[in-house]
This record gives sequence, structure tokens and C-alpha cells, in this order.
Amino acid sequence: MLMIDHETLTGRHSFRPRFLKTLFSGPFVFSDSGWQWWLHGSEAEAAARLMDSHQRGGHPTQLVMLRNYKGRQAFRLNIDPLPCFAKEVAMTSLRTRIGALLGRSNVLLRYDHGTAETRHNLFLDSHTPNGVRTLALGERVRHGLPDRQILIHEYLSGWRPLGEVWQSTEQVDDRKGLINRLEALLRELYTHRICHLDLNAGHIMVPEDPSIPMRVIDCGRMCTSVRNPLIATALHVGKLMRDLGDPSQGVSGRHEQARNIFGNIAGEAVEAPRAQQILLMACHYRISKRVSKRRLVMNASQKALDLAAFEARLLTDHRNRALLPLTARNALPARASSPP
Ligand SMILES: Nc1ncnc2c1ncn2[C@@H]1O[C@H](COP(=O)(O)OP(=O)(O)OP(=O)(O)O)[C@@H](O)[C@H]1O
Ligand SMILES: [Mg+2]
Repeated sequence: MLMIDHETLTGRHSFRPRFLKTLFSGPFVFSDSGWQWWLHGSEAEAAARLMDSHQRGGHPTQLVMLRNYKGRQAFRLNIDPLPCFAKEVAMTSLRTRIGALLGRSNVLLRYDHGTAETRHNLFLDSHTPNGVRTLALGERVRHGLPDRQILIHEYLSGWRPLGEVWQSTEQVDDRKGLINRLEALLRELYTHRICHLDLNAGHIMVPEDPSIPMRVIDCGRMCTSVRNPLIATALHVGKLMRDLGDPSQGVSGRHEQARNIFGNIAGEAVEAPRAQQILLMACHYRISKRVSKRRLVMNASQKALDLAAFEARLLTDHRNRALLPLTARNALPARASSPP
């Protein structure tokens, strides 16, 4: 039950995204901080009030700043019984602010706003066991548009990022156990046609209890309903093998392990040649944010993928320049065949 007093509903919200209006209550205004809060569930109010008080210049003792970097702040809110994680994002461009208002993410209205991230978090949490619970979305509105947003999630107490857990795990059997759990997570993403465009070993959180599924965080850049879930999985697996693989193992060792994982997730579908080639490239190259993974996974036909052009684009990244191109090793066709 919500225990809100002094609630104020502000403005007109007819053009706000449907998921906010249907799944959240609010927006509520708790003070003259300039912030409004959309609440998801009964535990959200205490957390939102705490962040509101911080925005007013208060110093609540339950709030601990975890980091403050590039204008992005993260906090732990020590609230009983549910500690929370809060992160604040600033939207510097007008287009991003309009995207945040309308809840649209596209090339024009950008992808990097808290409204998109909140929608992705809810999608992941409601479709898979690998999402983090969302409690609230806060917004500072200027001239009718949100210019800062705060996402409040449940705090994963005692959980650690996969990269860190992997480094501290030396026994082969323990590492196998981690790979099995990772496979289960990636299978969920595959089954539900989700591509996390920023999946890496730091964005997968691991609980101490091995019977509890791992969780995915930082879902701002994500595609749902992807047309090519195989390609999405190839990108996920390749990147994670780059992150977790022993650098001395080289691309062939990483690739072998990636093929096994890919096969376990996708079964027979794994033989699709283009998905195999993307897997190899994702094991070999760093895929920067400038390369559109979104286009790859949303492409209607795998046959229409021009892998040679994709590789040429990857090679323009200075961090890949020292690598021997896969086409030169005959691992990829020199020119992708044109679609029939
Ligand atoms: N729900 C959570 N519970 C506990 N810790 C979390 C939670 N979500 C994120 N973290 C920690 O906070 C860090 C930053 O979170 P996140 O990646 O979502 O923010 P970000 O601003 O996008 O960061 P970056 O730019 O570094 O990727 C994560 O690497 C993780 O260690
Ligand atoms: Mg992050």
C-alpha cells in the first residue's frame, strides 16, 4: 500500500510512454527539489523520498555515494528491508530529452536515456529470471523535458561482477560451474530474442549461492524482439569469451570454447554459417560502440549481412589494427556473397 502524503500530480502526461502510465504510479512530487517520481511497487516510496531529499541538498545518512564519474553518479540506499541501488544520468542533448519524455529510442531521439533503460529493465525482469527489480524512476523536468533522471533498483547485496568472480576462481570445476550458469543466462536472452548491446563481464552480476541465476545490469543499450537471436547470441558469447579468456590462449582457444557454448545454447541452429562467422569475429575483434550491432541483430535476413564490410569497419578501430584480418587467414570469405 502506498503511504504517500502531500502528493502532487504535475503536468499533463498523455504523451508519456504507456509502460510508465500503466505499470507505475505517479508522478509524485515530494518537495521543492524540482524532481518528480514514478513509483513501481510499494517499497519504492522510501527510496524515492531519500533520493529526493538528497537532491534538495540534504545529507541523509542512509545514502552512500558509490561513485561519481563523467556526470554519472551511483548510490547505495541503506533502507530496510530492501536496500536500493540508484543511478543518476544527465541527458545533455535536446533529442535525448525528447526521447526520455516520449520513451522512444531510435536514431533521431537517441537511445541513452533512463526511460529506455527502465523499459529494458522491466522487460528483462518480467520475461527472464535474470533481471533486476525496478523500484522507481525520478526525473528533473526543465522547460517541459526531463534533463536528469534517476533509476532506482533493488541493491544486489553480496553479488559481484562476473569478471571479478572469474579472476578469483582458479579451480577448473568452479570455472565450469560459472560457464554453465552463464550459458543458462545467455539461453534466456536467446529464447526471448534480447540483445544486450553492452554485455560484458562487468555487467553480469553473480550471487554467492550458485542455485540463484546470474543477473544482467546496465540495460540502457538493448534490443528486444531481435530478428536474429542467433547473431545476438554470437555477439554475446564472443564478447564474453574475449573478457574471460586467458590472453595467452589466442583467438583459436577462445573460439573453441565459444563454439561449445554457442552450440549448447542454440542446438542445431548453430550451424548457420553467418552466425558462426560473427561468433569468430566477436572472439577476435573488439567491437566498439561506433559499430552498429543493432543493425546486425535487427537485420531481416542473415543472408543480407555483408560480413566483409563488417570486418572492414571493425578494422578501422585502432585497437584492432594490430590483429591479422580473418579474411587474410581464410577464416572468412573475402567477399560476402550477395543475397539471392
Ligand atoms: N542493482 C545493483 N546492485 C548492486 N550493484 C550494482 C547494481 N547495479 C549496478 N551495480 C554496480 O554499479 C556499477 C555501475 O552500474 P551501471 O553499469 O549500471 O552504471 P553505468 O553508469 O552505466 O556504469 P558504466 O558507465 O561504468 O558502465 C556496476 O558495474 C555494478 O558494479
Ligand atoms: Mg555499466
